[in-house]
Amino acid sequence: MQILMVGTGYVGLVTATCLSEMGHHVICLDIDQKKISDLKKGVLPIYEPGLKELVDRNTQAGRLSFTTDYREGVKQSSVCFIAVPTPSSNDGSCDLSYVYAAASEIARHMDDYKIIVNKSTVPVGTAAQVKQLIAAILRESNAAFSFDVVSNPEFLKEGCSVSDCMKPDRIILGVDNSDAAKIMREIYSAFTINHDRIFVMDTVSAEMTKYAANAMLALRISFMNELAHLCEKTGADIKQVRVGIGSDQRIGYQFLYAGAGYGGSCFPKDIRALSSIAKQWDVEMAILNSIEDVNKRQKKILPEKILSYFSSHGGVKNKTIAIWGLSFKPDTDDIREAPALDLITHLLDEGASIRAYDPVAMPNALSIFGSRIQFCQDEYDAATHADAIVLVTEWKQFRFVEFSKIVPYLRHRVLFDGRNQYHLEEMQALGMEYFGIGVPSSRQTLNSTAFSLQAKLDLLKKNIHSLYVSNEA
Ligand SMILES: NC(=O)c1ccc[n+]([C@@H]2O[C@H](COP(=O)([O-])OP(=O)(O)OC[C@H]3O[C@@H](n4cnc5c(N)ncnc54)[C@H](O)[C@@H]3O)[C@@H](O)[C@H]2O)c1
Repeated sequence: MQILMVGTGYVGLVTATCLSEMGHHVICLDIDQKKISDLKKGVLPIYEPGLKELVDRNTQAGRLSFTTDYREGVKQSSVCFIAVPTPSSNDGSCDLSYVYAAASEIARHMDDYKIIVNKSTVPVGTAAQVKQLIAAILRESNAAFSFDVVSNPEFLKEGCSVSDCMKPDRIILGVDNSDAAKIMREIYSAFTINHDRIFVMDTVSAEMTKYAANAMLALRISFMNELAHLCEKTGADIKQVRVGIGSDQRIGYQFLYAGAGYGGSCFPKDIRALSSIAKQWDVEMAILNSIEDVNKRQKKILPEKILSYFSSHGGVKNKTIAIWGLSFKPDTDDIREAPALDLITHLLDEGASIRAYDPVAMPNALSIFGSRIQFCQDEYDAATHADAIVLVTEWKQFRFVEFSKIVPYLRHRVLFDGRNQYHLEEMQALGMEYFGIGVPSSRQTLNSTAFSLQAKLDLLKKNIHSLYVSNEA
């Protein structure tokens, strides 16, 4: 099949490459000239494990090509995918201007029947609006081509998007027309050889499915983050609670990690967009609205813990803080709405110095912070002469740090673990103070010891009193 992919970002480039790997001929189109000229030279605009090899192989095989020219792209393709950004507008609603711009360009260059497939995450009803828009443009130019608009939301996860795309859990197709459904099934047939995983539904339900999935996942994270607070107060351990509840098959273990708050290019904006859709339809969605509120609060937890710690150690001003991890999650260079950004900004405002390290996201962070923070060679370099280490992104390499090489060079022996990767006992054995999220931490141990001593004392007093009362009787 001849396919056009409009937008060559995280979704567009990965999907186009996987489609070409399955034998389709795919043209990737972007309005970003530099991206396209880099791609033509084999330079990828994003980091995604396994992607480079696939891009190289399919480019060399002549199945994957790159252009900025809509005329060439649309003319040569029978199916045109749209995978452009759908960011938040100022009021939180979804900004559809990129989708409409891409659809308009496709319409202007149509010369035959085409299927326009929307992969971007868009509000309910967008497929119908894109249809109207294309129809109006065709009418204006007296072009009587027929076309179909399909909603095909994407569920890949950055960091493992190639395998997600090659072996999808499901392929959602929102289609109003059985002929278009047949062609779409054909496109995805190579991905479903093992078993059928295509769900055909109406476009509105397909659009809603994407938002519902992201809201459900973000809800689980926010719920665990909220529980983590209660764990800290009560002395419970959120990691133990996670395995306790996750072992229930109805709940499962996925997306139950307390941490520094969710970020990325999808959850924050998609939750806001769904809230905005609900408002537009006058539907009260209390649970949905609290997901984002809890997350905003959660992103403040790490800076608050750090500030609170240093309030009894001369303040955070002029302290050097080592930040491990900048991307919003491991295995990606994406820093959009990453918790590390809020944390660093907060600490800089308080007068701290930052030494940061991330395996792949530093070039993106450099474009935001410039020389205001120091970028380091590795996690050891970042920690040298630091007053605190803060783990923000759980890159695998941070699991195997040789702390004995770091501890002697720290100014203050304290670690703030925004992902609960380490343990209080192991840190204590190294002579470090340790603060996690909803797990036993240095001061909390003292507090909970004090708490249990106080509780025992109260119980003793009560027993003595009842003994006294019964003796009196
Ligand atoms: N990133 C993810 O993990 C993910 C997962 C599922 C769904 N999505 C959704 O997919 C969509 C794309 O996300 P992304 O992360 O790939 O975005 P991105 O910012 O990485 O890439 C979008 C690309 O589209 C290009 N573009 C913008 N306007 C264009 C136009 N008119 N014509 C051609 N190209 C244009 C941009 O230059 C950019 O290269 C969004 O709606 C997003 O919500 C993203």
